[in-house]
Amino acid sequence: MKLREIKEFIQGKDDEALFSEGEKLREKLFGKEVYLRGVVEFSNICKEKCLYCGLRCQNSELKRYRLNFDEIMESVELVKKSKIGTVVLQSGNDPHYTEEFIEKIIKKIREKYGNTIAITLSLGERSYDELKRWKDAGANRYLLKVETFDEELYRKMRPGRELKERLKLIEILMKLGYEVGSGVIVGLPGMTDEILANDILELSLLGLHMIASGPFIPHNKTPLYDYSCGDLTKSLRTIALLRILNPYSNIPSTSAMASLEKDARVQGLIVGANVIMPSVTPLKVRKLYNIYPGKNESDSSTLEDVNKIKEIISSAGFIPSESIGNYKKKN
Ligand code: 5AD
Repeated sequence: MKLREIKEFIQGKDDEALFSEGEKLREKLFGKEVYLRGVVEFSNICKEKCLYCGLRCQNSELKRYRLNFDEIMESVELVKKSKIGTVVLQSGNDPHYTEEFIEKIIKKIREKYGNTIAITLSLGERSYDELKRWKDAGANRYLLKVETFDEELYRKMRPGRELKERLKLIEILMKLGYEVGSGVIVGLPGMTDEILANDILELSLLGLHMIASGPFIPHNKTPLYDYSCGDLTKSLRTIALLRILNPYSNIPSTSAMASLEKDARVQGLIVGANVIMPSVTPLKVRKLYNIYPGKNESDSSTLEDVNKIKEIISSAGFIPSESIGNYKKKN
């Protein structure tokens, strides 16, 4: 698909055709199966200044927390008990967690559970040596969203950071043998349809194993508090387009979708997504992982909660999968 056509679909040229094509492809490659990823948000401390994010270091009103080794392992155990095939270890960019600490966690998970669980890291921009050591220790995947491929918008949204550095890291992750996930925020202030269309195209050129997109949700303790939310329909169009351009990739229906509208995550599954990522962060801190309003207000920090999410998936006609859910290889 060419840029112009992507842009026309983003602008609503033919939703019926777009959504049914997304659905058909998801159905063909994944059937009704929905892969689950249990996300352990183990620290909300972040040295970055991203304008859109409630965890940005300038937000002095947020109470900060860090989970220790045992607390992290308890959450991993919940993932395992819930028969979820992947654990995502996520935090702000928090240098407190050293190369050695993360390595120790990965090794402990491998020691306890062997290869019955996939380990995804989502720890922001870290050094080559760290990324290599964690891969060697047994991590399988890494998530690093670009947020947008527009250099000027990127610079504005992520002060002090350069798009090129981020793309370089994605390349490194690929070379190290990680399954790599990336993605964009739909409707970032300043994002035109042209920029979004280009983002979709660029994301699809990277050969990513996982591609996420979710609507922008303004957070009242950030400089973007006064802007409007990203558009739900455009977010759904983005998911369908990503599925069409990347039939084999894992595509989550993100929790930012759920912040916009209660059943929006199910709508995302219908038009092409095949992954849901419930937070399993302990109750006592989960509300503090407040990237955007509404984040972690539902979801799950007990076994019953996880079962509730599975029920939502089932009652929409999908099958919550217990598998590790690696990306599909082209045959
Ligand atoms: N609205 C929507 N998504 C956001 N993210 C961060 N802030 C926001 C926001 N205000 C997304 C980014 C980030 C991920 C953890 O959450 O894509 O990488």
